[in-house]
This record gives sequence, structure tokens and C-alpha cells, in this order.
Amino acid sequence: MKKKKLYVILAIILIIGFVIYISLNGKNKQKENEKIVNENVIEKLEQEKNIAKFNFETKSVKLNSGYEMPLNGLGTYSLTGDTCYNAVSSALKSGVRLIDTAYMYGNEEEIGKAIRDSGIPREEIFVITKIYPSQFDNPKEAIELALKKLDIEYIDMMLLHHPGVNDVSAYKEMEKYVGIGKIRSLGLSNWYVKELKEFLPQVNIMPALVQNEIHPYYQENDVIPFIQNLGIIVQGWYPFGGRGHTSELLNNETIVKIANNHNVSSAQVILRWNLQKGVVVIPGSSNPNHIKENTDIYRFELTEDEMEQINNLDRNEKYDWY
Ligand SMILES: NC(=O)c1ccc[n+]([C@@H]2O[C@H](COP(=O)([O-])OP(=O)(O)OC[C@H]3O[C@@H](n4cnc5c(N)ncnc54)[C@H](OP(=O)(O)O)[C@@H]3O)[C@@H](O)[C@H]2O)c1
Repeated sequence: MKKKKLYVILAIILIIGFVIYISLNGKNKQKENEKIVNENVIEKLEQEKNIAKFNFETKSVKLNSGYEMPLNGLGTYSLTGDTCYNAVSSALKSGVRLIDTAYMYGNEEEIGKAIRDSGIPREEIFVITKIYPSQFDNPKEAIELALKKLDIEYIDMMLLHHPGVNDVSAYKEMEKYVGIGKIRSLGLSNWYVKELKEFLPQVNIMPALVQNEIHPYYQENDVIPFIQNLGIIVQGWYPFGGRGHTSELLNNETIVKIANNHNVSSAQVILRWNLQKGVVVIPGSSNPNHIKENTDIYRFELTEDEMEQINNLDRNEKYDWY
């Protein structure tokens, strides 16, 4: 009798063990399949080479979100107070319609005011802002703060400023704001191939833009095609190397020679080189003459040989840590 009871208990244990094994195995298979589907999407996009075309007539590009974005803008890092307000006002007067800011720059209020005061219809201006990793644990508050400070009805594009803890959940919160029309397009900043491969399968809306450091001494020639093939626009920061490094780039012998060929400045050559590589430019400046000069990059074209000469200047020399 005792033996029979033992057999029954053993049989029950075996059946329970078997059921647990089958269900866990099934879940793992499902996870594997999900992952394969997502990786396939990236691979498929990469192979399709879904590169967006720059329209040099309209000076804009159509994003994968369906919105048009200008090809050149004004960067506002380190511009604050009246300097920032005046720089943005001057840029808008010179025809610039893309402004790049960030929570970290501490100037969203000045930028919003300059835009509102300009009298230019809101729809004609494209504003990019970014939320910082220190805000990722409360992204709703961060987005609401940006909307409040800018005070321009909606944000054209919001980026995660850097990879960081909770970046996926912060991005997913931004996706919700796309759903209610308060943010129009999403993007990432300082994301490279490895980071993108990890990040993309975890989100629902494909980023429309990746903003990374790009200039003749740091060209990211391995990263740019990867991003562009996914149908994502690449935007370069520090086009002139950033404050403290501009003279090295602007006085580079090769760049000066090419500038003389076209009767333009070194700054214009660098910006044009970016555009011909399919990279959107956001040079920073508080000088109205420079701001105007930086918009005048559509009336000349660098030859293949000149492009190659600048491509050969790459030194993999990064001017910031991220
Ligand atoms: N996502 C990120 O992590 C990140 C990081 C850094 C920057 N950014 C963005 O990228 C933008 C560009 O970077 P940046 O402003 O730091 O550096 P930058 O554009 O490489 O260089 C700005 C410097 O170039 C000078 N300059 C501008 N136009 C010129 C011209 N035509 N001729 C001669 N000098 C000229 C400016 O001086 P003047 O004021 O005298 O013209 C300023 O000192 C930033 O403003 C920001 O929006 C993003």
C-alpha cells in the first residue's frame, strides 16, 4: 500500500516537472522568435539601402516620420540669455528654419521666445530638443518641461541626448507624445552601430534621426552608411570641431585650397562636404555674419576629387567624450 502511494507521488512529480519544462521551453522559443523578427527587420532595412534623398531645391529632406526637415540649421550649445535670443532671431532672419537645442543647454526658453517673436508661421520652423540621461527616470516630467519652456505648441523632434539607464522606457514615453501629437518625430544622439543594434529592436517607432559628432577629423565613415541604410537621417554636431578646435579645421591647407577654388570660406566647404555625404548640418554661432555665411552652401558643388581629398583628412580624432 505504502509502495503504491510512493509511485503515485513520483508520477505526479514527474508530470508537474514535464509541464513546467514544456511551458518554459515554449516561452524561450517565443522570445527567440521575437528577437529574430526584430533583427530581421534591421537586416532587411540595411539591405534595402533605404537612404533618404536630400532635396537641394527645397533645402530639405523627408524624414521616415513623414515630416520635412531643413538640411541646415543653427546649433545653440553654449548660447544662453540674450546671446541665444539674438542668435536665433538673426538665424531666422537669414532664412534658417532648423534650430537645435537641448535641456542641457539651458536655453529652451530663449529659443521659444525668439521663435514666437519672429512672426514666422510655426509650421515653417523645425525645432529639435533633447532630454538628458539624468531625466530618463521621469521622462514624462522631462517632456512636459521641454514643452513648457519652449512654449511653441509642439516639438518637431525630440532626441535622447545620450544612451543611459532607462533610455528604452524614456523613448517609449516619447512615443506616447507622438501619439498625442505633442512631439512629431523622434531620434537619438550619440548612438553608434552597437548601441543602435541593441536599442532598435526594443522600441516601436523607428528613430527619424541620429545626431553624432562628425567633422573632417572625425568622419564616422563606418557609422554613417549603417544609419542611412536604415532610412534614418544623420545629423552632425561639431561640424567645425567645436569651440577650441575650429581654427585647426578652418585653417587646414586642403580645406583652404578647396575653398579658394570655389571662392567660398572654409566653413562653407565643410558644411557643403557634409551635405554631399548626406549629413544634415547644425553649425553653432552667435555671429550674424557667420550665421548668414553658413546658410550660403547651395550655390556651389564640391567635385568628387575634392570630396575625396576631405575624406582623406579623417584622423579618428574626437573632440568630445561621447
Ligand atoms: N548631441 C550632442 O551631444 C551635441 C554635442 C555638441 C554639440 N551639439 C550641437 O551641435 C551644434 C554645433 O556644435 P558647436 O556649436 O558646439 O560647434 P561648431 O559648430 O563645430 O563650432 C562653433 C564655433 O564655430 C564658429 N563659427 C561658426 N560659423 C563660423 C564661420 N562661418 N566662420 C568661422 N567660425 C565660425 C563659432 O564662432 P562664432 O560664434 O564667432 O561664429 C563657434 O566658435 C551645437 O551648437 C549643438 O546644437 C550636439
